[in-house]
Amino acid sequence: MEEYFDYDVTKYPFVTLIQELFAHDLQLLHELPNAEYSFFSTPGNDSDTIFHKLFYDRMRSGWKDFTNTYVRFIRECIAPISGNTGEIIYQTWPSFRVHLPGNVAVGGWHKDSDYHHPPGEVNFIVAITPMFESNATIAEREPGTLDFRHFTMTPGQIVRFNGNQCLHGNLPNTTGKTRVSFDFRILSADSYNPSHDLTSLSRGNKFLIGHYYQRMSL
Ligand SMILES: [Fe+2]
Repeated sequence: MEEYFDYDVTKYPFVTLIQELFAHDLQLLHELPNAEYSFFSTPGNDSDTIFHKLFYDRMRSGWKDFTNTYVRFIRECIAPISGNTGEIIYQTWPSFRVHLPGNVAVGGWHKDSDYHHPPGEVNFIVAITPMFESNATIAEREPGTLDFRHFTMTPGQIVRFNGNQCLHGNLPNTTGKTRVSFDFRILSADSYNPSHDLTSLSRGNKFLIGHYYQRMSL
């Protein structure tokens, strides 16, 4: 079942950093030029927008303020609530999401395991703007139950859920407000499989340490 946690937005300034990157009210990103996209009905092009390009170009150019904050956040906020001791395996770069009005953030209802993600992953979502009504992620409470709920959240909140096994997705955003968030996955050392030879359907990443994941000593 999903669980919510609070974190300190001053100590881990993801909201400020992403706000500075876009230099625009994040809930109104859809007002920027060239921000209209046809409906993302399948996975893939949903992460190929001008917003993703700006975010990942900044990451590729070495966005130390963000990546250092992210690594510190994994160590100080995520590891303690994950129950991992000794080490934790985490997604190298988080997945950036933009849920534009009239569209979805992620094309297709799925479990991450449908996309070759290995078993044992635990998912986290970090809200950068308010997530409410139809601009929120929706997921099953337990695998196979079809007991869906919205992840209603405000900046400063994270949610942990079993995205590997619980069906999740989103509805067309009718709120008139863009939702921005990022998400990532962690694994315990015990559940990491170094011979998992499948790659992610979206980006072709190998689900291995040094590729999709990094290992952190705690
Ligand atoms: Fe997913």
